[in-house]
Amino acid sequence: MSGFDYSSDAFHVERRRQLAPLITQPVEPFRKGFDVSTVGGEARFWMEIHKGLLKASATLPQWCEQFLSLDDAEALRAFQPRLGSLGSQLIHHAHGHHHIEDEHFFPVFLRRYPELANPIDLLEHDHEVLAMVLDEMEHAVGGMHALTAKEAADRDNLLKAGEMLHQASLRLDRLFIRHIGDEEEICLPVLAQW
Ligand SMILES: [Fe+2]
Ligand SMILES: [Fe+2]
Repeated sequence: MSGFDYSSDAFHVERRRQLAPLITQPVEPFRKGFDVSTVGGEARFWMEIHKGLLKASATLPQWCEQFLSLDDAEALRAFQPRLGSLGSQLIHHAHGHHHIEDEHFFPVFLRRYPELANPIDLLEHDHEVLAMVLDEMEHAVGGMHALTAKEAADRDNLLKAGEMLHQASLRLDRLFIRHIGDEEEICLPVLAQW
């Protein structure tokens, strides 16, 4: 049971502007003397994964824009596998990463520091929203793959599928920037204590 209303503007990942005091206060004691440049080991590796996810989520909308700017069906068909495979990889990596956090990282945090219940709860809720957007993306990528050769010969069909993926990928990128930034703000000072 949350100590806050996640669906409100102050907490929801698509609407919050910063982390509310209810979330940052429990992390405050861990911040004393914390220096991000000294973070190493598993935490450093975890930050690298975030960097990779952010890079892919920033690249996908750009590729979608390139795709949507193509004139003829043949050029669109030639680009489509590359676009679909970047989308699929990103979806796969994101799900895997969230799974590790939900099943490993967060429970260990909570066992050791029960006072972090609110911040961890917020991040878990973020993952639920992210899962919905990843499903949207999967649907868009699947829609592209599912076009039959005959349908794919039609430029409009390819553009419609590309537009769907574009919208979903823009949404994911915005979400990732917010979620990953906040997640590092919450978790890094804690990880650094270990
Ligand atoms: Fe996360
Ligand atoms: Fe993460």
